[in-house]
Parts: sequence; structure tokens; C-alpha cells
Amino acid sequence: MSELHEVCRFVDRPINHDYVFKLKNYLKEGIPATYTLEEAYHVENDIEDKELSSTTTPLHIIASHIPQDATEDEEAIILEMLNELLLWGAGWSLIDKDDQTPGCILDKRGFHGSEYWNTIVNAGVRAEILLRKVEDNIEFIEDESVNINEETIGEEADNGQSVNTKADDDEDNAIQEIRQQLRDDPSNTTSTYLKTKLEYKDGALVTKERGDGVMMSWEETLMQAGCDSMFKNQQPDNDHCVLNIGFGMGIIDAMIQKKKPRKHYICEAHPDVLAKMKEEGWMNKENVVVLSGKWQDQVSELLSKGVFFDGIYYDTYSEHYEDMLDLFDLVVGLLKPEGVFSFFNGLGADRRVVYDVYRKLVELDLNNYGLKVSFKELVPPKETLNKPTDTGDSVWDDIRRAYWSCPVYYHPEAEFM
Ligand SMILES: C[S@@+](CC[C@H](N)C(=O)[O-])C[C@H]1O[C@@H](n2cnc3c(N)ncnc32)[C@H](O)[C@@H]1O
Repeated sequence: MSELHEVCRFVDRPINHDYVFKLKNYLKEGIPATYTLEEAYHVENDIEDKELSSTTTPLHIIASHIPQDATEDEEAIILEMLNELLLWGAGWSLIDKDDQTPGCILDKRGFHGSEYWNTIVNAGVRAEILLRKVEDNIEFIEDESVNINEETIGEEADNGQSVNTKADDDEDNAIQEIRQQLRDDPSNTTSTYLKTKLEYKDGALVTKERGDGVMMSWEETLMQAGCDSMFKNQQPDNDHCVLNIGFGMGIIDAMIQKKKPRKHYICEAHPDVLAKMKEEGWMNKENVVVLSGKWQDQVSELLSKGVFFDGIYYDTYSEHYEDMLDLFDLVVGLLKPEGVFSFFNGLGADRRVVYDVYRKLVELDLNNYGLKVSFKELVPPKETLNKPTDTGDSVWDDIRRAYWSCPVYYHPEAEFM
């Protein structure tokens, strides 16, 4: 173990300024803030070129060693150390051999909501904002448009310019393979998802072959909260008009119908789901307007039709945070001044620390649109936290990937400021 790692273990108490002093020195001397235990082991044992299988960084070590009985002064020192490491680029979301980020370790040790936790979450928010800016400023070249002259690959070794080594090729191939896997994954790519066969099965809507969970009945209480938000400002004149994007199992739409709105728009893109809606008679309901197709095409058309909503709910599948940011452009144009916008908040929900980072990010983004957001904390069924079992006490049995693993759900409710 290196001296940098040693200093993160808080062996000597009290934890005082010497710790900060030593840490700053190591970082100034050029030791990376992400220097891992595994790297140190390789250096100490003269192991070369072996790929690292995990990354136990100084942040992980600190998170594992913060004393439960730290005094206020000690806490201030530890926070200074965390901030110093983060300043020098210590990765807030890197994972160690146990697949844990520093935040995951803090959470397991009971530090959720502590100042240590907030420090990591705030660093995550800053990093995500920075990443977005960097990505905004980079012009990506589509693979197809790159004209590769195969003869020139690897030719420039003599004049000291680009050398295409086998390692480069392997890396390129690996990247291409990952990209292709993502494109073929219906949970990641909408065009693939919309061509994938679905089935309604055991209280869930899943992709037929792979068993990806598109919608599951355990989300019922979350849908009720979404529905209640949409009707929060309902007036006695019964002029209420709402839009739900993503029908899925129709859970929230059935709840909306019970509230008897004047008009109930539903936007749905998947042919199998649209067939189910037809079978259940949704196309013929007097107060229902079904917009068949992607919201990107269907909902934007409403902007020019003078249709405005008291409530908008968004819950789709295979889309990403960037898609929701695009939706905000439409929401501000379609929501009445007293209207409420809500959505299924599963952003980053497979890790609690990432979930907290996204809670802050989405708040910042909505604020940019003049929308303030509040979050009501709900407790999802405890079976969502169980790993798949044979005994039936996990909701994830037979589901390809658990898309939820947080003890608390942050139900969002956004309104104009
Ligand atoms: C998670 S389900 C919605 C569940 C729903 N809230 C309920 O209560 O049952 C997501 C739905 O969004 C649909 N969807 C996915 N992308 C879409 C898009 N771009 N436009 C419209 N619908 C979309 C999916 O086909 C799926 O039916």
C-alpha cells in the first residue's frame, strides 16, 4: 500500500491537519487522485501491463475508514481531504472490486445524507455538468463518414507520427463491439425497442425474448402519486385536460380515467402496446385521444393546435436523460400556468448515490425552464431491493436486469415558479 493510501486509512487519531498536509503534498508531487490500491500493488510487485480489474481509489479507502465516532473537528478534516481529492479529479463514480462507488460504501456504512455524502453527491453533479459541456463542444464524427485508407494504417511509424498498434486495434474493436451491443439492446435504443416483440406476463410488460422489464406492477403506488399530481390543481368546472406519455400497462391511465378528466391524451409508440390499447377499448373512450407514435413526433404537433394541459406525465422506455431534456422544451409550451408536470423518476436508480446526483441535476435543469420541483419521498415495496431468488420474494425473478435498487423513491412534481 502506498503512503497516499495509508493516509486515507485514519490509523492515527485524532485526525488533524497533518493528514491534509500529507495528502496535499502527495497530490502536488504528482500522484494521481485516482491512484488505486491495485496500481500500487502492481508497482510494488513489478507487475507490468496487466489490465486492472478494479479500481480502489483513495476516495474508496476514505469512505471505508471514516470513523463512526469522528468528532466535529475530525469531520472537518475528512471533508477537507475529500474536497482536495475531488479537486484533483478523484472519480466520484469509479467502482472497486466489490462493484461499489465511494458513495455506495458511505451508504452501506450509514452515512447517507451526511456531509460526506453531500460532498460526493455535489461532486457528481459538478462532474455531470462538466461532462455535458465537454460533450456539447465536441463534434463527433460518425463512423460511417470516416474514410479509412487501410494502406495508410500503421505506416507512419518512421516519421514519428501516428502508429496504429495492435493494442489500438483491439481497443477500437472493443469500442465498436460495445457500441453495437448498445444499438442492439432494446432497453437502450428506441429504434431497436420499437421493433422488439413484447408480452404482458405475470404483472409485467416485458420484451419477449430477453425478458427486459418495460413496466411492472410494483410501480403502482408511484403511478398513483403521478396521477394525483396531475390532478392536484383540478377545478370544480371539470375542464381538466391531461397528457400521459407512455401507456405501458395502462396503470396510470386507468387511474386517470377514474378521475374523469374532460380530455385524456395518451401518447404511445410501440405497436404491441397500441394493439393492447385497442383490445381494451382505449381508442373508443369518449374523453380519450390516443396519439399513436413517438412523443417526439406526436406531442410536438400539439404545440400548433392550441392544446394545453393541466397535467403532463412522462414515463417511457429505452430513452435517456437527454430525451427528457428535449421533452422539457415541449412541456413549457404545453403546460397551463397552473399545470403540473411529473415523470417516473428512475434516473440513476440502480445506485443510490447516482439517484441523488440526478435528483439535483433534474432540479437544476427544470429550474432553467422556469419550473420549480418538489420531491415527495415514497417507499417502494421491499421486494424491489431483493436480488432475484427462487423463492419468489424478489420482483426481479425472471427479469433481465433490476432497474431499481433504492430504498426511497423521489416522486417529482414540477410547476412554474
Ligand atoms: C414504462 S412504460 C409506461 C408505463 C405506464 N406509466 C403505466 O402506468 O403503465 C413505457 C411506455 O412508453 C412507451 N414509449 C417508449 N418510447 C416512447 C416514445 N418515444 N414515445 C411514446 N411512447 C414511448 C413504451 O412503448 C411503453 O409502453
